[in-house]
Amino acid sequence: MNEQELTHEVTARMATTPDDRIRFLMEALVRHLHSFACEVRLTEAEWLQGIRFLTETGQMCDATRQEFILLSDTLGLSSLVDIINHGNQNPEVTATTVLGPFYVPDSPRRAFGASMVEYEDGGRPAIVGGTVRSASGVPIPGAEIDVWQNAATGFYAVQVPDEQPATNLRGIYSTDHRGRYEIRTVRPVPYPIPADGPVGRSLAVTGRHPWRAAHIHAIVSAPGHVTLTTHIFDSASDYLDGDAVFGVSSALVRDFVPDPTGTLVCEHDFVLDVAGG
Ligand code: BEZ
Ligand code: FE
Repeated sequence: MNEQELTHEVTARMATTPDDRIRFLMEALVRHLHSFACEVRLTEAEWLQGIRFLTETGQMCDATRQEFILLSDTLGLSSLVDIINHGNQNPEVTATTVLGPFYVPDSPRRAFGASMVEYEDGGRPAIVGGTVRSASGVPIPGAEIDVWQNAATGFYAVQVPDEQPATNLRGIYSTDHRGRYEIRTVRPVPYPIPADGPVGRSLAVTGRHPWRAAHIHAIVSAPGHVTLTTHIFDSASDYLDGDAVFGVSSALVRDFVPDPTGTLVCEHDFVLDVAGG
């Protein structure tokens, strides 16, 4: 068998896959994998090195560390999937971006204007607020905003369970009768994605840095609307131009402006697409 005949033989054996979508995905995966190996003339040593890399990536994963998501993020695959699925959305709707590996479900519910700071880290106090609106134009009372961010030390609570309370800097807020939300927090800071594993090594060998621009994560949901996974980026942050996971969208960059007391105020509206619209 030559190279083309082998590729054909492997895909032909999948022709009886009962599920159409799985057959389509698997055939394309085999074709592209074979095509990659042929194009780069993959050596046996390189193939083995790749197998070792993927093995270590899996071994690095546990309940709080997802090295495969990190790999997808740093290869731009997570952002590509985001663009494929949301790139053509109504331009009025708030841009989506990557979820990242530090989302923890079941955050505490917090009242309008309540603080999500449960641990003093010297971070600069900030108030983030705005309106959640429908793409149809109307504010949405009772929308939920599930937020999480890092501390001034650079770490998310889930990364340092012995240092920060588990629910520090995360919470679920609801919009009031006017569709407004308000969050008391601290200014997020740029941070390196976890670089002590195989993904970190892959960044180093390709001359890349591991830093993300400062941001706050949010998942915004409301009945009758498409759930939005997004960030708010700080316009004063470093790395807006070179975010390690290609997550920055200029439409999501906002100023954190000091009020007379020195607290930073960031105003950001979320606009949700109408479900099935
Ligand atoms: C984050 O923003 O939390 C994140 C996203 C991708 C990789 C690592 C961290
Ligand atoms: Fe993050």
